[in-house]
Amino acid sequence: MKKRSVFMCTECGHESPKWMGRCPGCGEWNTFVEQGVREGRVDRDRVRARAVSLAEIKTGDSERMVTGVAELDRVLGGGVVPGVVVLVGGDPGIGKSTLLLQASDRLSAAGETVLYVSAEESGSQVKLRARRLGVASDRIAVLSDTDVTHVLDEASRVSPGALVVDSIQAVEHPEAAGSAGSVSQVRTCAAELVRYAKEAAVPVFIVGHVTKQGSIAGPRILEHMVDTVLYFEGDKRFPYRILRAVKNRFGSTDEIGVFEMTVDGLREVKDPSELFVTEGRGPSAGSVVIATAEGTRALMVEIQALTGLTSYSVPQRTSTGVDRRRLPLVLAVLERKAGLSLGNRDVFVSVAGGVRVEEPAADLGIALAVASSYWDQPVDARTACFGEIGLGGEVRRVALGERRAQEAARLGYRRIIVPTAAVDTSARPDGLDVVGVRSVAEAVDAVLGRRSRRGGRGAPEMKEA
Ligand code: TYD
Ligand code: MG
Repeated sequence: MKKRSVFMCTECGHESPKWMGRCPGCGEWNTFVEQGVREGRVDRDRVRARAVSLAEIKTGDSERMVTGVAELDRVLGGGVVPGVVVLVGGDPGIGKSTLLLQASDRLSAAGETVLYVSAEESGSQVKLRARRLGVASDRIAVLSDTDVTHVLDEASRVSPGALVVDSIQAVEHPEAAGSAGSVSQVRTCAAELVRYAKEAAVPVFIVGHVTKQGSIAGPRILEHMVDTVLYFEGDKRFPYRILRAVKNRFGSTDEIGVFEMTVDGLREVKDPSELFVTEGRGPSAGSVVIATAEGTRALMVEIQALTGLTSYSVPQRTSTGVDRRRLPLVLAVLERKAGLSLGNRDVFVSVAGGVRVEEPAADLGIALAVASSYWDQPVDARTACFGEIGLGGEVRRVALGERRAQEAARLGYRRIIVPTAAVDTSARPDGLDVVGVRSVAEAVDAVLGRRSRRGGRGAPEMKEA
């Protein structure tokens, strides 16, 4: 057979005999990677379907199967439908195998047989983890194999109620090009698993590692092939893990699930609201609590900022946990509208507890935390805030204002700074003073008592230790 190279787009899977700078399939740049020798084509014959009337089609909604891990079910939209393919993505070591083994345990406790395929670990390694988690069901069939055709053979023999494949980067198809983890392998294996799921009407969970670099087959290409994409994330230095749906053909993508990694596995966190606020927190300069909202849930999250005179020619701007594109905007607005002068100062912003807050509603919290650190003036520990900041320094309304305020009230906050009209004042939650602000300058005044003259003031009277 003649040797032949194939180039494939890592975003959409478009193939080309030569390298291209821009993919004609999806328009992305620099996404082509070489795929080695192609030995043969995978048989792509599909079962031919007949058109049926809309009325005849069953939604499968009534047949939703709950995994029994409530936080997972919540994110899935109330469990899984038959034939759904769920990709569980996340950094290596974040807890994907743990989560799926625990879900397998609950499913088997509900009477389902689960085929758990580990292509990364031996049966005894899986058993060790299971023992640690207290999982000992004989309804979980473990297969340690990397060949996806063997996986499918076993699946037809066992005919499980659910199939778990851990991970897509470790399985391979004998007829696809490249080694395990390459784009063509990932695509072929995933296509086979998707086909199995649909034909057998069995929910399939696929684990996909997200690697920062070097991974030519990031789960991106997979995301288009599966029905639901969940990301399991968190900072490994902290025990909390957040599960979020980024794609969900059978539910919303708003919900998050919160877990805590403990010595005996993942524990579901039913009331996560104050996990991301430093315990026993008193007033301290640079720390502000925001009320974020995810799906039907509001969470109180602490934002911390530190500013100080720089010793570099270009001041440092570093953020963790917040959308890094918003930090420069917030800083520019603080300079222009609230009288801070940050040109010679380093600014560090981070979110407590290792959680990520990407929504623009965090802007006001970032701004107030930076201002508080800048003037070395603490914000009252029982004051929270939320709001998006516009380029003109205006504080904009965000969704779910009422829910955020209610959560703050529930947790004993006494004051919340909100965009004007974001919270209906007639429905003010008990004991909570709702302060509407129109601009960042107003917010800074309300929280720190700093009235700014436009154009700025001089450097703060602040000790530089
Ligand atoms: P794992 O599920 O193997 O991660 P992934 O499949 O995403 O690569 O979890 C790995 C980490 O979780 C590992 O560092 C050990 C830790 N862990 C616990 O803290 N407690 C436990 O009970 C288990 C099983 C794992
Ligand atoms: Mg694993």
